[in-house]
Amino acid sequence: MQDLDKIRAEALAAVAAAADLDALEAARVAALGKKGSISALMATLGRMDAEARKTAGAELNRLKDEVAEAIASAKAALEAKALDQRLARERIDVTLPVRPETTGRVHPIAQVMEEMTAIFAQMGFEVAEGPDIEDDFHNFTALNIPAEHPARQMHDTFYFGERPDGSRHLLRTHTSPVQIRTMLNTAPPIRIIAPGRTYRCDSDMTHTPMFHQIEGLVIDRTTHMGHLKGCLMEFVTTFFEVDEVPVRFRPSFFPFTEPSAEVDIGCSREGGELKIGPGKGWLEIGGSGMVHPNVLRACGIDPDEYQGFAFGMGVERMAMLKYGIPDLRTFFESDLRWLKHYGFLPLDVPTLSGGLTR
Ligand code: DAH
Repeated sequence: MQDLDKIRAEALAAVAAAADLDALEAARVAALGKKGSISALMATLGRMDAEARKTAGAELNRLKDEVAEAIASAKAALEAKALDQRLARERIDVTLPVRPETTGRVHPIAQVMEEMTAIFAQMGFEVAEGPDIEDDFHNFTALNIPAEHPARQMHDTFYFGERPDGSRHLLRTHTSPVQIRTMLNTAPPIRIIAPGRTYRCDSDMTHTPMFHQIEGLVIDRTTHMGHLKGCLMEFVTTFFEVDEVPVRFRPSFFPFTEPSAEVDIGCSREGGELKIGPGKGWLEIGGSGMVHPNVLRACGIDPDEYQGFAFGMGVERMAMLKYGIPDLRTFFESDLRWLKHYGFLPLDVPTLSGGLTR
């Protein structure tokens, strides 16, 4: 046991010298680990006679406790130091000047779809989605547009190549197929909107081959055309952020609704400036109507039990009217100067409580 003082001195020196937690752990293993110096001494106890073992055992235990305590306090000190260093490293200087504003902008189409979604969500509508690549059934047939119906020609459809069974997929010409998918998959009551991309083989001043629509659909037992008009009136005043927007329904025809109406909103054009609100002019913003019984039937919904309305609006048109964007084609030119001018700051998410537009 003459090694005791030496072992104590070595172990305590190693603990004191440990500059970090790894070194401290190494010192602990060297003294108290399975093969450590103190553990080795403990192993010799067995070979002693009872009296010697008693004194040596007590001494060794004291040594063990002493070294363990030294390790514990060194550990606490090292951890405190590590925390201080980390706090210093991660300190934020709140007096630094703000970073330059990000140059990225939210495209007006995305912004307007967010705004529309916020408004309809408040009215209890859920967002539904469908694929851009559709089939004939969802895009036409189920919407009461049978083969050879003239409405098919009017849609200037982009078709894919023929498949072995003779059918052809297509790029959806409107968001109305999302109505069909929703009705096939959900039991009424239904209250959805479906914003998304649509495609028509058409390109001039006022048409782009890809554009966006938002579809609305409400199905239950009692919803009628008055609800449709009230819903759209509420929507346009909130969307355009003006107190009063006159809404006019003009009788029209869509295969998937009966009766059908085109929706106009009031505007004035004083001094060459277009203003949404009461005035002499009218602007068409979309189509609407009561869902045709044939459409309900195609989706397995009994028209004697259920009824409801649908509407469809062009997103670009709504964006142009709200934000005074004069040319449709600029939406898709990816001109950074245009985006910087008409785009929105990414953190200004439109909400009804926080404001649609800031
Ligand atoms: N799908 C029509 C189109 O693209 C727009 C439309 C009109 C949708 C009337 C509707 C509706 O849901 O009821 O021209």
